[in-house]
Amino acid sequence: MKVGIIGTGFVGASAAYALTLRGSCTELVLVDLNAKKALAEAEDLQHATPFTHPVRVSAGQYPDLADAQVVILTAGVNQKPGETRLQLLERNVKIFADVVPQVVKAAPEAILLVATNPVDVLTAVTARIAGLPDGQVMGSGTTLDTARFRALVGQHVGIDPQHVHAFVLGEHGDSEVLAWSSASISGIPIEEYCLQREIQWDEEVRKTIDEKVRKAAYTIIEGKGATYYGIGAALARITEAIARDARAILSVTAPNKEGLAYALPRIVGGSGIRDTLEVPLNAQETEALTRSIEILQEATHLAMG
Ligand code: 2OP
Repeated sequence: MKVGIIGTGFVGASAAYALTLRGSCTELVLVDLNAKKALAEAEDLQHATPFTHPVRVSAGQYPDLADAQVVILTAGVNQKPGETRLQLLERNVKIFADVVPQVVKAAPEAILLVATNPVDVLTAVTARIAGLPDGQVMGSGTTLDTARFRALVGQHVGIDPQHVHAFVLGEHGDSEVLAWSSASISGIPIEEYCLQREIQWDEEVRKTIDEKVRKAAYTIIEGKGATYYGIGAALARITEAIARDARAILSVTAPNKEGLAYALPRIVGGSGIRDTLEVPLNAQETEALTRSIEILQEATHLAMG
């Protein structure tokens, strides 16, 4: 199982580290315009493998991606403090116009997993450029926001976040939608769970969690310049779902029939996205999701005409 990563900045390197720690693949190829950086990251990671899993990590060029099962795209610029994800669009579309054809040429069978922001629009752009079958191109979408949501709810109710079932939908960005009405703790609606256990559960709690999820990236970027561990772990998780044909339900982003990409829970396995699920939403959430999709539609139109 071979995985390629394009871009060895913070996100690419963190994804590589997460893949190595988890033993998500047997071979990892790092490609970067800055070959010296890719080589240094590969060497550093290789030195972790005696403590982790037997992953062969190397630095390479595009042709070295041949036979990769997954290629993770992390190339591009990231947000400066205060900048939104959508403000990166023009710069990163240019980079993708150069990168994507080279990846597809080298590894036409690979599932392409986009992580660069704005991830929804760039997933749509990648799918358009790549011209691969449906399901073969996806983006990390709101997997990270969903993780943030689950972590905060888990913390509030005092349980392992893996038992929190809740999704963030729509844009990976300011307009994202936290699907509160369908959220549960192992199938028990959160409200019911909190009532049983005498835990505070009201509008104030939901508002605090919503803001923390929505603003997480801004707060982290303000504090340390970039976010990377969370997304690195999310990318490793998505890659594993593909590598093991796990049919995991993950809120990745992918283009619809009109070429517009946004995040919904989707079944992810060996061939990429197998299906998309519909989350029951209340009227307010439906309205917010429609608005989020409209925002992405405008940005996608801007990027692709
Ligand atoms: C994040 O949400 C910046 O999109 C990145 O952490």
